[in-house]
This record gives sequence, structure tokens and C-alpha cells, in this order.
Amino acid sequence: TIEGIVAREILDSRGNPTVEVEVGLDDGTVARAAVPSGASTGAYEAIELRDGDQDRYNGKGVENAVTNIEDRVVDQLIGYEASEQRLIDQKMLDLDGTADKSGLGANAILGVSLAVAKAAAGSAELSLFRYLGGPNAHLLPVPMMNILNGGAHADSNVDIQEFMIAPIGAPTFREALRYGAEVYHALKSVLKKRGLSTGLGDEGGFAPDLPTNSAALDLIGEAVEKAGYRLGTDIVFALDVAATEFFDNGVYTFEGAGKSADDMAAYYHKLLDSYPIVSIEDPLAEDDWSGWSTLTASVGERIQIVGDDLFVTNPQRIARGIAEKAANAVLVKVNQIGSLTETFDAVDLAHRAGFRTMMSHRSGETEDTTIADLAVAMGCGQIKTGAPARSERVAKFNQLLRIEEELADAARYAGAGAFPRYRS
Ligand code: PGA
Ligand code: ZN
Repeated sequence: TIEGIVAREILDSRGNPTVEVEVGLDDGTVARAAVPSGASTGAYEAIELRDGDQDRYNGKGVENAVTNIEDRVVDQLIGYEASEQRLIDQKMLDLDGTADKSGLGANAILGVSLAVAKAAAGSAELSLFRYLGGPNAHLLPVPMMNILNGGAHADSNVDIQEFMIAPIGAPTFREALRYGAEVYHALKSVLKKRGLSTGLGDEGGFAPDLPTNSAALDLIGEAVEKAGYRLGTDIVFALDVAATEFFDNGVYTFEGAGKSADDMAAYYHKLLDSYPIVSIEDPLAEDDWSGWSTLTASVGERIQIVGDDLFVTNPQRIARGIAEKAANAVLVKVNQIGSLTETFDAVDLAHRAGFRTMMSHRSGETEDTTIADLAVAMGCGQIKTGAPARSERVAKFNQLLRIEEELADAARYAGAGAFPRYRS
């Protein structure tokens, strides 16, 4: 039974304020959760409440969200069983009273929602993945490791936001992590050798200035081979283009030229012919529904087309995407929708339609590792949580190592089976 809730303002990995919540139960259990924050946010995301007081943190304070929890939520939730997740989340949605969660703030609601789940797991003496996923939770996700950062996450001229490697050929998650970390280190020496910057972007990947986007793929390919792995077998590529960021007035400004959705699609097909790419996220802008449907039809089952800004983890937008065949996979970010219950609903909806799901961090993160447990609990098969560098990213990988260890022989690494083209 919930006995008390405490909220506070802490800092995220970019040095910006975010919400942290502690939930205490009558049996002495105390659990804590922190809320992540994006930079290339979708227009349809639930509202992250920021104070706007320019005298504090350039307006980015979250004292109002904290006060909303303390003044409007705590009293209402005391006495609930922590296991009543859906009732608790529904209660907060009712208290909020808006469609976009601007009443309490999605950051306020999500902090409480996640801390409640962790408290319930603690009280049941279960790991979070086990409590949320039940006895059948056993699938370890492929880590989609973002080892080269561009777009809004880097101060470079690379348009594509994320260049990811997926170690699909590894037998276990632990080995996948090793493959990825070794390629990451090999990439550092490849960049150094060429006199390119080895400074890091927001998600821990390198952020060199490069002439083209395919130059990034060539460098990563070189690093894969240098590390002793087979490109296309052990390791494949995935992209997050984050195309909404360079779309304006019907035009995609990409590699210095104005392009249409058809031009972008032609570019992607050329990339697919040259590189072992299994997944492209946000290849087009968040309102370009017809462009998405055309592209998805044109790639068929060859690769995964992932909606991030398009779907914003929102069951309503995912339902439209299913009906219009606008994509074939969903990126899952808990703070885009703002409660654990709705995140479950989004993933269920996607899986029932045969869409794949990729659990995801945000570019602004904390030491909170909840998404690692969610990926296993929800059977996502894929997780993206940055490079194997910077502790707010590595914390999630390390949690997945612990989960794999706890599952022991029951654990299964998703591997190549997570992707259409490489289904074994
Ligand atoms: P964000 O980026 O957290 O800055 O939105 C991540 C993504 O686009 O997937
Ligand atoms: Zn994205």
C-alpha cells in the first residue's frame, strides 16, 4: 500500500533539470524513478512541463512538475496498492484532465508511474522485468548501439542523427555488448588515424565532421572489420534519420539540397543496396503519412521502418500507422506518452499488428535503468540506449547483463530473429 510519495528536481545527462520520484509503501519498500528528456522531440509528444523561469536553468526548471506531484497527486494515491498500476495511472490521467498531459506534466505523471511499478516489484521481491513481464519474460533485446552521432545530437554537418550497429550474430546479450564495445573502440582508432574528431555526441557516439552520410557508414564498416567481425553477419547497421529535424515547408534539406519524399526514398534504396542496413527510423517527417506508406510498401519485408516522431508511443497514432501501413515497427519511449500503462498499450497494439518494437532511451538520460527491464518485460527484441560509453547509457546495458544472468538458461538473445531480412 502506498504510504508516501516524494518528488524532486535532479539533473539529467545534459545538465538540465528533470523529475525524480520516490514511492514508499507500508511494508517499508522505497523505490525511485527518474524521467528522461529528448532534444529532437516530436510535435505530438505528451507535454514535458518546464517552468519557463529564465532565472533558473534557462527556463528549463521542473519545480512546477514537482509541485504538481506534491500538491495534486500524493494525497490522491495514498492507500492504493502499488500493484494497481492501471488504476493509479488512470487516476493521474483523470487528475491531469488534458489530452496532452499539460495539466500535471507528462514528466510528473511518468515519474510517479515508473516509481510505483518499481515499488510494487520491490514489495513482491521480484526484479522489475519479472514483475512486469511475468514468468515468460526471457527475450534479451539486440542493443542498437548508436556509435556515431549527427543531427541535433552533435555539432557536426552530418544530417542523419544516429548511426547504429546491431550485433545480431552474437550468441548472447553479453557477447553482443562485447562485439559492440570492441567496434566502438576500433571506430575511435579509425577516426584518430584520419585526423577526425573523437569528441562525443549526446548519446556517447563519436561526432566527427564528415562530407556525406555514407562516409559515416564507410568508417563504421572499416571499424567492424578492424575489430574482427563480419559485416552483414555478425554486425549490421541501423539508422535514425530523425527527418522531421530537417523538414520544412514540404522540403527535406539533406546533404545541402532540397529533396522530396520520393527523393529521400530513392536515397534510402541506394543505401540499402550498398550497406547491410536492417532498420531505418524516422526516414520521413512526422506528418508525411503518405510518404511513409509509399516508402514502407517499397521496402516490403526487406527492412524495418520505425516510427518515432511519427508515432510518439501514442496508441492512437500507432493505430493510424497500422491502418495506413505507414511503417512496420514502433520506437517506444516512455516519456513520449507519459505513463507505464499507455506504454504497455502501445507495445501490445504494435505486436498484435505484427509490428516490431524497439525500446528507447532519450538523448537526455539519467542513471535510471527502467527501460532495460521494460525491453525484456515487453518482449521488444530491440533496445536503443546509445553507445557503450557515458554511464547514463552504459547503466542500461549493465542492467541487461544482470537480467541475462538472472534468467540464466532461460534467457534467449533476440539476435538476427529480431529483424525481417535476417530472420533465421
Ligand atoms: P531524442 O532523440 O531523445 O533527442 O528525441 C532520440 C531519437 O530521436 O530517437
Ligand atoms: Zn528517433
